[in-house]
Amino acid sequence: MPAFTHHIFICCNRREPGHSRGCCDPDGGEALRDAFKTELKKRKLGPLVRANKAGCLDQCEQGPTVVIYPQAIWYGGVQLTDVPRIIDETIIAGRVLEDLLIPPERLNAET
Ligand code: FES
Repeated sequence: MPAFTHHIFICCNRREPGHSRGCCDPDGGEALRDAFKTELKKRKLGPLVRANKAGCLDQCEQGPTVVIYPQAIWYGGVQLTDVPRIIDETIIAGRVLEDLLIPPERLNAET
């Protein structure tokens, strides 16, 4: 079996309402992760691309947060409607979606 080409880590962290940092999955439904799995399956990418549930990726204020490795592409504010184009544009075509990209200077930035 060939090696994975991408691991997509989707923050599914949930915190109590009103937490100062917020969280990426307030209702704990893991809908974003499920959407990635569904879209990958539709495209038969499962053997090469994994969508993994992640705990807090420490970019909470910019969430919902997704990071794609080994390319180290960080996306923030990801919505369910973004999932198909992330797969088509970034995973398949190798293009970074600038409107979702968390630029390196904002990663781990103090808020
Ligand atoms: S809760 Fe998602 S990055 Fe922290």
